[in-house]
Amino acid sequence: MARLTWHGHSCFSLETDEGTRVLFDPWLDDNPKADIKADDVERLDYILVSHGHWDHFADCVKLAKRTGATVVSTFELVAFAQKQGAENGHGMNIGGGFNFPFGRVKLTPALHTGSVHGDDEGAFTSEPSGFLVTLSSGTRLYHAGDTALITDMQLLRGQVDVALLPIGDNFTMGPEDAARAVEFIEPRTVVPMHYDTFPVIEQDPEEFRRRVGDRARVEVLRPGGSLEI
Ligand code: NI
Ligand code: MN
Repeated sequence: MARLTWHGHSCFSLETDEGTRVLFDPWLDDNPKADIKADDVERLDYILVSHGHWDHFADCVKLAKRTGATVVSTFELVAFAQKQGAENGHGMNIGGGFNFPFGRVKLTPALHTGSVHGDDEGAFTSEPSGFLVTLSSGTRLYHAGDTALITDMQLLRGQVDVALLPIGDNFTMGPEDAARAVEFIEPRTVVPMHYDTFPVIEQDPEEFRRRVGDRARVEVLRPGGSLEI
């Protein structure tokens, strides 16, 4: 079994059976709801970044520099991270997958905007994505990134065991659309994310649970909370 831990917002860490450590969307130091700081992350092998917005990319380069972790994201965002000093990167694009030692990572479509800041040359657009991760154990994990409800999610039906879905509304799907995403995807377990970090995305995850009903098991985590997958 792999251990999946929520660190608030869209940041999750995953420790696989073999001990590989993967971090999704690292935003820790300036996240008021995060349970840890970037410096608390001791060992890290991969950083998966869904898009360049600061609430997903913020601590990526700092962590990559210190731990030597490989940044996995769209080609352009990886190139940007490497220009900022990240040593190891693996650029991909939406619809493509790659077999990493810990499992297969495929970039999935996300309907959102994206930009990244970080040097004197200003801001760049970054194409948002999600991730479908198939672990060596066979468990299939979908991190949706920031996205609207999209019919493309129907293509994931039967391919996802655990889905991490934004429910915050305003910037992403809200609880109603996220519950429809569960209908599209039919995961076994769903974990809500990207809510309650700031006032504009405050949500009641129990409302989401009610909307999902018996279609999936809804795991509402607190920052620092984890589950075995
Ligand atoms: Ni975003
Ligand atoms: Mn976001």
